[in-house]
Amino acid sequence: DMITNYFYDEAAYNYHDGGYVPLEEPQTEQKPLNIPSLLKPDKETATDMYYTIVAQTGEVQLLPGQKTKTWGYNAPLLGQTVVFKRGKTIHLHLVNHLPEVTTFHWHGLAIPGPIEDGGCHAPVYPGQSRDVSFKINQPAAFVWLHAHPCPSTAEQVWHGLAAGAIVQDEHEASLPLPRNYGVDDLPIILQDRRFHENNQWDYRADYDPDGVAGPTPMINGTINPYFDVTTQKVRLRFLDGANRREWRLHFSDDLPFTQIAGDLSLLPHPVKMNKLLITCAERQEIIVDFGKYKPGDEVILYSDDVPLIHFRIHEFKPDNTVLPNTLYQRPDPEVDPDVPVHHVTLDGMDESVAMNGKKFKMDRIDFKMPLNQVQIWDICNTNPAPGMIHPYHMHGTAFEVISRDGHAPYPNELGLKDTVAINPGEHVKIKLWFDVPGVFMYHCHIIEHEDGGMMAQLQVIDPADPDKKYKLMDHMTL
Ligand code: C2O
Ligand code: CU
Ligand code: CU
Repeated sequence: DMITNYFYDEAAYNYHDGGYVPLEEPQTEQKPLNIPSLLKPDKETATDMYYTIVAQTGEVQLLPGQKTKTWGYNAPLLGQTVVFKRGKTIHLHLVNHLPEVTTFHWHGLAIPGPIEDGGCHAPVYPGQSRDVSFKINQPAAFVWLHAHPCPSTAEQVWHGLAAGAIVQDEHEASLPLPRNYGVDDLPIILQDRRFHENNQWDYRADYDPDGVAGPTPMINGTINPYFDVTTQKVRLRFLDGANRREWRLHFSDDLPFTQIAGDLSLLPHPVKMNKLLITCAERQEIIVDFGKYKPGDEVILYSDDVPLIHFRIHEFKPDNTVLPNTLYQRPDPEVDPDVPVHHVTLDGMDESVAMNGKKFKMDRIDFKMPLNQVQIWDICNTNPAPGMIHPYHMHGTAFEVISRDGHAPYPNELGLKDTVAINPGEHVKIKLWFDVPGVFMYHCHIIEHEDGGMMAQLQVIDPADPDKKYKLMDHMTL
């Protein structure tokens, strides 16, 4: 059956709030969609992979006229796509060539915190580097790397510090899914910017404590992109890499598509739909079938009524691949009924944002839980309707959405997730556990809300070392 709603509460859409910046169609010439290249490992063995990741400044011809000054990872803007193979040990050499301190956060990887995870306790100062190693033991997914120096995460991401990363595993590789990177398998990083004089970005001028937004869509770092379609089916790995914008995606002709994955796993079953909402930091993977089009046709991806990507149809071979009805079996571990439900509230707006009534403090642990214990958390957005959707994110874990105000979750959020949109006034229950010890942050992923203090951190207690003390930073100076 086809699902035709966006799965979220329209009253909460960002166009209802005073600070909403509508998207505008760029009036510049269409340009080929940038496909970030795959980052070459320095070395790869049967068991280990080695990468060097450099945060750097650059400039890019985004608009006619002056180039825009940007930041990126191994690239002037955004970054090269990193591939992680499940079961391998990854060794990263993280280098900072920026003029200020940064961190390298792996959004979606279940790796130890707070150092490997790369949140605010793992600074890399200008001209310096840090080496981390971790093992990948999680299902195939599209995850991402972004800067996370508190409280300047939003500004650094706005400068361009965000890149996609693909976790591969044998199960996903055994399924008949498009997998030819850059041809029929594309990362689609959705962002928005405002261009000021001489085509420059000015984060401070655009600052809004409820999230910075701009009118110009930027897709994989391209303004007004087109993509040449040469296969009948194309897999799009959407990442909402915007600071505060949600995207309401659909195609021309209401072309149906099939969602196959969410943040951290394939969905249990493919979901056929023609509209899709993605909120900050979420990933949604779809397969689009261009079978009814012929060479010369164009299919447009929109958010609301603004074109984001023009898909130019070329000659392709017929593709009759049928997706299996079951893509993924979610683990669903039991919860011990004696373990209490943990409550999190996402409070306030503007400068007064908080979590559980408190603003984030780098050297305060807000909650402790044992390694591997399965817990139910109840996350509540205490803004009354109409308020903002808070995309709630947790580091270091993959969770399962159990219910929304007591109702079943949406069919496209039944896989493993690391970010879930919480509507105004809503309670969302999630089931979570940690397979790795350490200190981990959890927060709203409207990045200005996170920087503003709608964030907390927990410690996962390792029974092998229950008194372990982590060295936590108490502040970070750019
Ligand atoms: Cu995308 Cu604290 O993370
Ligand atoms: Cu994260
Ligand atoms: Cu928020």
